[in-house]
Amino acid sequence: MSKMRSLTVVLGASLVCAGPVHAQATLDAPPNVSHGWVAGVGGLQFNLLHRFSLGPAPSRKLQNAPTLSVAYGATSWLSVGFNYASASEVVQAYPNEWELFARIAPFTQDGGAPVDVYLQGGYNIAAESVDGQLLLARRVGPVRAFAGVGVLGDALRVGGSRATVAAGATMRLHGLFGLTADASTFADRERSDDVAWSAGVNVGIANTPHTMSVHATNVASRTLQGIARGTGHTRYGFEYTIPISLSRFNSRAAPHQSAYRRGIEAPETKPVIVDVRSLRFAKGRIEVEVGTTVEWRNRDPLAHTVTADNGAFESGEIGPESRWSQTFTTSGTFSYHCTPHPHMKATVVVRPKSSESKEKR
Ligand code: CU
Repeated sequence: MSKMRSLTVVLGASLVCAGPVHAQATLDAPPNVSHGWVAGVGGLQFNLLHRFSLGPAPSRKLQNAPTLSVAYGATSWLSVGFNYASASEVVQAYPNEWELFARIAPFTQDGGAPVDVYLQGGYNIAAESVDGQLLLARRVGPVRAFAGVGVLGDALRVGGSRATVAAGATMRLHGLFGLTADASTFADRERSDDVAWSAGVNVGIANTPHTMSVHATNVASRTLQGIARGTGHTRYGFEYTIPISLSRFNSRAAPHQSAYRRGIEAPETKPVIVDVRSLRFAKGRIEVEVGTTVEWRNRDPLAHTVTADNGAFESGEIGPESRWSQTFTTSGTFSYHCTPHPHMKATVVVRPKSSESKEKR
């Protein structure tokens, strides 16, 4: 297990140069072209997506098209998971649609690349098809724009592969509120193929790690097959994101923190304070000596986390006006983020003690 762990760390570091984690918030993703995220180390992401429409007269039965999305963050750059839709219109004879996928984020804008890059490959059981998508995302101020190309091995299970194209954007209007829209279709679209579209609002739910999208769309199931073609009628729905951090239960993931908790490494100096305010870490980069305790104080009316990109520490939810501290016992550079608000990022650089570096005792 530890060998696996170091292997994945080495692989991850060489591929991503320790690029930051992109846990998902719907705040930063459009409703259909939504594959621009990975769950983060030890993160488990549940997304509950429900879309509703009215059936034909006279009964006008309310029809429900849910897609359950579950993904596990195996490393900071790899997620594996599935989408399950129970009222899919991809293949009429198979309304229960499963899509199993792996998704990597090999390059990130925050890691120095011009765009965030996501590559997803998977298997759609309803369509009996191997499907893939390359999605690029770039953040410019409050806007995050997406563009993607994909291939469906057997598109809609009619016996041929087809290429897909997709585009979308989100725009933060204010803190926890934003607008979003997207469109996707076959690259060789025929007249009978409706373009898939969606439009809505994204909301972060105060005091929780949850985000929500409320939108209209003409898509039933949100899989690579599902978003390739519109269904011909409009649905209204919502998506609710539930991030669960498993790394906080893994003591090996937090050696420094557990040592501190046992009292072995008591803080030697006054803590360095980092305020968390207006969805930002007030100090983007701090440099401290080994042995320093850093304390984060949440000044926002909602919960944040302090989560190391490499899994070295994990605060869990820090509620409003609460604080959390971490003593750094080894030197190094620790990038961290907030799981519910992945755009919140900062770094702690831990230097060796100046007495140790100057004179060897
Ligand atoms: Cu936050």
